[in-house]
Amino acid sequence: MRLQDKTVLITGAGVRLGRAMSVALAQRGCHVAIHYRLSKREAQETAGRVRQSGREAVVLRADLSKPEQVQTLAERSLEYFGHVDILINNAALFYATPFLHAGEEDWNTIMDVNLRAPFLLCQKLAPKMLERREGKIVNLADISVWKPWADYLPYCISKAGVVALTLGLARALAPHVQVNAIAPGTVLPPIDEGENIEALARQTLLQRIGSPEDIVAALLFLLEGSDFVTGQVLTVDGGRVLL
Ligand SMILES: NC(=O)c1ccc[n+]([C@@H]2O[C@H](COP(=O)([O-])OP(=O)(O)OC[C@H]3O[C@@H](n4cnc5c(N)ncnc54)[C@H](OP(=O)(O)O)[C@@H]3O)[C@@H](O)[C@H]2O)c1
Repeated sequence: MRLQDKTVLITGAGVRLGRAMSVALAQRGCHVAIHYRLSKREAQETAGRVRQSGREAVVLRADLSKPEQVQTLAERSLEYFGHVDILINNAALFYATPFLHAGEEDWNTIMDVNLRAPFLLCQKLAPKMLERREGKIVNLADISVWKPWADYLPYCISKAGVVALTLGLARALAPHVQVNAIAPGTVLPPIDEGENIEALARQTLLQRIGSPEDIVAALLFLLEGSDFVTGQVLTVDGGRVLL
């Protein structure tokens, strides 16, 4: 796919990986709908960086735990651009939920944000992609789906669902829409794990954590490197799953 003048919706695009992907895609010629929930100022900064590349940016707020707001996010993206060529389901909720203490509310919110929202966004945006016979969806999964962390089970299960969604949608939307996932290892640790970076690095074959650029490189491969890849989960983890 040629990225010049393609329209993209990226969820959770105010900060961290979402911002890095937004800026990188703008530099490749894409116009970007930047979704956020709480990070309004940061989302506006991301939009500024997109516009510096001479591309259009629109900033859209939605709480992805609320289906009606997910619906509105999709509608407003379509209204603004006319169609969305690329959907990147990046936003996620990640926090510890030790098994014996995880509440129903934790389970529901994590599933709603991490799994139901991507499902619904795909459902709302795919018809136009099918009509135009072109589109790409990239879902952010996590290497924890292969070896789930006991203290983060709802998160890991939601990401396992994201993998199943990716494989199922690749079949449902073929042949014109490609659906893939990226499963990062640690590329940006949660802010409260900042001092643990050396320990995290030792958990990889390559003895380092990754960077947002590593994820951007994987994304660019899936979007413009090949149109012959669909239903794949590209693991970007420095070999952590092998240890
Ligand atoms: N960082 C890593 O090393 C790593 C490793 C493995 C997998 N991943 C996956 O890669 C993706 C990006 O990682 P990240 O670390 O950049 O993500 P993050 O900072 O943890 O979260 C991204 C955004 O998700 C949004 N979000 C959370 N709850 C929401 C809700 N109810 N409604 C709407 N938006 C909500 C937040 O937006 P606001 O701030 O605007 O509220 C947040 O900025 C995630 O899917 C993550 O699971 C990341």
